[in-house]
Amino acid sequence: MTDKYAVIGNPIAHSKSPQIHRMFAEQAGQDISYEAILAPPDGFASVVERLRKEGYKGCNVTVPFKQNAYQLSNQKQYLSYDVVHAHAANTLVFKSDGVHLHNTDGIGLIRDIQDNLGVLLRGKRVLLMGAGGAARGVLSPLRDAGANITVANRTVDKAIILAERFVVSSCSYEELAGKQFDVVINATSSGLSGEMPPLPPGIFAPGAFAYDMMYGRETPFMAFARAHGAAAVSDGLGMLVEQAAESFFIWRGVRPETRPVIAALRLS
Ligand code: ATR
Repeated sequence: MTDKYAVIGNPIAHSKSPQIHRMFAEQAGQDISYEAILAPPDGFASVVERLRKEGYKGCNVTVPFKQNAYQLSNQKQYLSYDVVHAHAANTLVFKSDGVHLHNTDGIGLIRDIQDNLGVLLRGKRVLLMGAGGAARGVLSPLRDAGANITVANRTVDKAIILAERFVVSSCSYEELAGKQFDVVINATSSGLSGEMPPLPPGIFAPGAFAYDMMYGRETPFMAFARAHGAAAVSDGLGMLVEQAAESFFIWRGVRPETRPVIAALRLS
């Protein structure tokens, strides 16, 4: 019998997750279905309830519901280490004893940067821009990878709160003047509106690497990094595929090959 999975979000029409999971399933010779489901802003919990009743095995959760997933209160939950730290979940497993929650975004980012792009994080000066859900989801895996992290945010109080919780440094964009970093990661949503955080031009250390967690187009941050001395620049497509691979592993017990999937998505 086909095992059913889905991704829940709003908007969801342009999600690449169904395509990615179909490629994984084909690779692994597994019989699964995976659909994209649009939930109304206040309708996340009822969609989850419906999927459980209909026998789905699990689902992914994307914008804006990752925090709602953490707060699902009407059913018994089991939280993974990453969910507890991020206060957000992107992977749900429906089991007979309740809903098991995971967050694979952080591991997805680390795998893309270290394994696919060959940038080792241990001991590196890493600037993480943003203090919203996207930044929170990756902070503890970044720290566990041995990076020396500074969080910068437009609303600096939010950076300070995160920095205290994750025991890393924080600052405003103005305070970055005169500082240099080996790795600069954009976890803000600024690219969505064609903007970028106000970075000083000398921010990239020699050989620096710039990573934007957005994908699908060249963001102003990526263009800025190319123009101001970053040695390598990447979008977040690899992170998307890697977080999906970790979800697939949690659900199916098989770790898919991600490189051919990333390559196929770059061509499509
Ligand atoms: P997400 O879940 O994608 O992280 P979010 O929680 O709304 O979304 O957070 C968006 C982040 O992008 C915030 O850190 C926000 O900065 P503020 O906390 O100061 O609002 C940041 N951001 C959005 N647009 C930005 C811009 N043009 N320049 C700098 N930071 C920006």
